[in-house]
Amino acid sequence: MKIAIGNDHTALDLKGELVPYLKAQGHEIVDCGTNTPESCDYPVYGERAALAVQSGEADCGILICGTGVGISLAANKVDGIRAVVCSEPYSAKLSKQHNNTNILAFGARVVGAELAKMIVDAWLGAEFEGGRHQRRVDLITDIERRQHG
Ligand code: RB5
Repeated sequence: MKIAIGNDHTALDLKGELVPYLKAQGHEIVDCGTNTPESCDYPVYGERAALAVQSGEADCGILICGTGVGISLAANKVDGIRAVVCSEPYSAKLSKQHNNTNILAFGARVVGAELAKMIVDAWLGAEFEGGRHQRRVDLITDIERRQHG
């Protein structure tokens, strides 16, 4: 799978552990930055990764900031993006099965590298179940359409 990764300065170490882990599983990485330790603004990188997913350049995305909150909020402003912030694997798995999330976020100040890998594995290993869940996801998309008039 092609995975867009976006992060702020708090997440360089965690990203440094996750990228080789994902590559070892055969995934391709679209690195949306940042790659320097200088303090930066997470919405920039959340939007970049979200646009890569929206355009189809990437199949899905992973976002990391201090908590995962700010960067997921930014990504969710992009049409068609359903980003979820998770600190444990159960919600990550269900977010794919029921909500068809296309971006996973977590906090580098919240989860350690091994837990982050478990969360990523649970999310990448799950599939959207469709059915009644499709109707609900469609209702979320309807909200976007109404916002655009
Ligand atoms: C940066 O200090 C921090 O605010 C950011 O990484 C993130 O946690 C925001 O939601």
